[in-house]
Amino acid sequence: MHVPRFEKIWIGISLATMAAFFIVLVTLAIASDVNPPSTDGLTIDPAKVSQTPPFDKPGLHQIGPRLYEAYYVGQVFQWSPNEITIPAGSTVRFFVTSVDVVHGFSIPDANVNAEIMPGWVSEVEHTFARPGDYLIICNQYCGAGHANMYAHVKVTP
Ligand code: CUA
Repeated sequence: MHVPRFEKIWIGISLATMAAFFIVLVTLAIASDVNPPSTDGLTIDPAKVSQTPPFDKPGLHQIGPRLYEAYYVGQVFQWSPNEITIPAGSTVRFFVTSVDVVHGFSIPDANVNAEIMPGWVSEVEHTFARPGDYLIICNQYCGAGHANMYAHVKVTP
């Protein structure tokens, strides 16, 4: 098969461009230590979540005035705990992990959004200034019951 000279040059340029992009992508991913949103890069054995404190007792813990930590476990198709209640003005640090597949921890009305990967603990923080019933949804398709995977944050006046 005859390939004209300019065709060969352009094929070469295309391949070189793809190779350059690939090298830049991999280098930046390694250099900037890309991983799920977590300040500490916390990891957890997904098979032992139910035996690993504090995820053995998912729920809300008050750690200071108007300051809380909330430990959530995602699994098909639910979030534990299903509901927490806090007073308005509270800041909640959410620590979220998964025991099975990738989920998405999202509170659309609170601008909270984190990808939840088995083996990792994702951390995200929000201050709930206004009272209301905030819906936590799963925004990563995780199976047939994905649409039923939700929970509530009740913020009282
Ligand atoms: Cu969990 Cu979708």
